[in-house]
Amino acid sequence: MAAYEYETHDYDVVVVGAGGAGLRATLGMAEQGLRTACVTKVFPTRSHTVAAQGGIAASLSNMGPDSWQWHMYDTVKGSDWLGDTDAMEYLAREAPKAVYELEHYGVPFSRTEQGKIYQRPFGGHTTEFGEGPPVQRTCAAADRTGHAILHTLYGQSLKHNAEFFIEYFALDLIMQDGRCTGVVAWKLDDGTIHVFNAKMTVLATGGYGRAYFSATSAHTCTGDGNGMVARAGLPLQDMEFVQFHPTGIYGSGCLITEGARGEGGYLTNSNGERFMERYAPTYKDLASRDVVSRCMTMEIREGRGVGEHGDHIHLHLNHLPPETLALRLPGISESARIFAGVDLHKEPIPVLPTVHYNMGGIPTNYFGEVLNPTPGNPDAVFPGLMAVGEAGCASVHGANRLGSNSLIDLVVFGRAAAIRAGEIVSPNEFQPAVPKGQIDQILGRFDAMRHANGAIPTPELRLEMQKTMQADAAVFRTDKTLAEGVEKMTAIAGKMADLKVTDRSLIWNSDLMETLELANLMPNALTTIVAAEARKESRGAHAHEDYPNRDDENWRVHSLAWVDGTKVTLGNRPVHLDPLTTHAEGGIDLKKIAPKARVY
Ligand code: FUM
Repeated sequence: MAAYEYETHDYDVVVVGAGGAGLRATLGMAEQGLRTACVTKVFPTRSHTVAAQGGIAASLSNMGPDSWQWHMYDTVKGSDWLGDTDAMEYLAREAPKAVYELEHYGVPFSRTEQGKIYQRPFGGHTTEFGEGPPVQRTCAAADRTGHAILHTLYGQSLKHNAEFFIEYFALDLIMQDGRCTGVVAWKLDDGTIHVFNAKMTVLATGGYGRAYFSATSAHTCTGDGNGMVARAGLPLQDMEFVQFHPTGIYGSGCLITEGARGEGGYLTNSNGERFMERYAPTYKDLASRDVVSRCMTMEIREGRGVGEHGDHIHLHLNHLPPETLALRLPGISESARIFAGVDLHKEPIPVLPTVHYNMGGIPTNYFGEVLNPTPGNPDAVFPGLMAVGEAGCASVHGANRLGSNSLIDLVVFGRAAAIRAGEIVSPNEFQPAVPKGQIDQILGRFDAMRHANGAIPTPELRLEMQKTMQADAAVFRTDKTLAEGVEKMTAIAGKMADLKVTDRSLIWNSDLMETLELANLMPNALTTIVAAEARKESRGAHAHEDYPNRDDENWRVHSLAWVDGTKVTLGNRPVHLDPLTTHAEGGIDLKKIAPKARVY
C-alpha cells in the first residue's frame, strides 16, 4: 500500500454532511460553544435539501385551526403505525418552535395578507384526528423552501464560527473501545487525508435514492453514512420502506412538488378521469403519498395510463390562476418547461411515481443518538455517534413519511442532537487519542479501491444495481420479484471485488469517488431488498401483493439488518408505543392513535 500522510484535527464535534439536518446540528453545537467541524462532500448550499420544494410541516394554525396532537395523529397514521410514539410526539410538539426559530434566523417564508407565515395543504395532513377537512399545515417559501432554509442555516453557522471542510469525502468512522471517535476524510481538490478526532460524530449524510435508476434525489444521495455504519458492524433499520413520490416528471424523475396538488392541482388518467376520487373519496389527490403512488400504478397497469405507451399519468395545473402559479409555484413552472417541455398554464405535466425518500436508516433515539440494539437492550446507545435527517431512523416516519415532515424532521432532530450533545460533550474533556492502526486499516481500504484492477467499470455495476432495485423493489412487490431481487443483488454486491478503477490520481478523481459511493450504496440496496423479502405483510410503502394486509400481530416491529460483504443478517426491535406525556398532562389520547384501517 502507498504510504499516506494525514493531518489531524481535534474538535468537540464533527458533523458529516451539510444539508438541513447537518447544518441545523452544526449551528446548534456551535451556538453552545462546542468546537464544531462540518465535513461535506459538496458545497453546503448544494446539498440535496436545496431541492426540497413544497414546505415544512408545523401546526402554527395560521390558516385555520390546528394542533400538535392532530399533526401527531396524521404522522402516526401516515407511518402506518410503525413510527415510534415518543419520537412522533417530540416531532409534532417541537415543530412550531423549530419553524419560528428558522423565521428568526432569517428564512424568507411566503406570507399571508396579515404577514403570517403562509401554509398550504399537503397529502395526509388533516384536522380533527382524520375526521375533518384537510389542514393547511405546510409552511412554504414559494416552492423553494429547502433552498431558503439551507442558505439561512449556512449563514447562521458561519456567524457562530462553525468550521467548514468543504469537498472532503468521509471514508470511514474511527471506532475504538466501543465508541466512535471521529472520521477519516479525503480532500478532493488536493488529495490530502484528514483525521477528524472528535468527542461526538454526527452523521447527516442523507438518503440513498441513487440505489435506484429513477429518483428525485441528487446524484450525491449515496447513503454514505449508512454505508460507514454498516461497515462498522452496526445495524440499519426499516430499510424495506422506500418512498415513491407520486409526481416525478416522466422521463427525468425531476420533482414536481406535492404543493402543486396542495394548491389545487389534480391527477387524471387516459379517460380524463380524476381517478383519486374513486380510491380516496375524502382526501382525493391529497391522500398520503404511498396511497397516491399505488393508485397511479394501478391505473397504468389496468390500461388507463396516458401517452404513446400508456405508461404515465397527467398532473393538471392549467386550471389554476396564473397569479397563483407565479406566486406559489414559480420553480415547478420552470421545471415543467425544461424537463417535460410543457407550459403548465396550458397543458398537463406527464408524471410517474419516482423514488424520493428512505424511511429507513441508522436507528436512533429521539435525541439522535445511534442505537446498537442487543437482545437484552433494544435501545442501547452506541457512544460518540449520532445520526440525523434522512440518514437517521428515529423513527418518526415508520413505513411511510408524510410530505413536508422531512424538512421538519431535519430541523427538529438536528436541533435535538445539538441539545443532547450540549449535555454530554464537555469542551474541557480530554480529546480521544488517534488509533494509528485503525487509521491505517481505513486507508488500506481506500488504497485498495484506488488501485482496484478487476474487470468491471464502476458505472456498469452501478447501473446493474439501479436497474435491479427499480425492477424488484418497486411500488408493488411480490414473493417472486423479491426473491429474484435478493438473488440478483447478492450477486451484484459480490462483484464489488471485481471493480476496475482507471484513474489512480488523488486529485479530483471522480472515478475513485464514484467507486467509494458505490461501496456505500451497495449495503443500502442489499439490506433494502433482503428486509423487503423478509417482511410478509403490506405496510406503508411496502406493498406486498402476496400479503396485501397489514399484520400488526406479527409485523409491528422495526426490522434490523447487519451487513458483512454480501451476507445480511436480520433481526428486529420493538416499536416504542409509549408517548412522552400522558393525556392528563395535555398529551395525546392513546385511544386516538390506536391502530385501525388506514383510509383517506
Ligand atoms: O413534494 C414535495 O414538495 C416534497 C416534499 C417532501 O418530500 O417533504
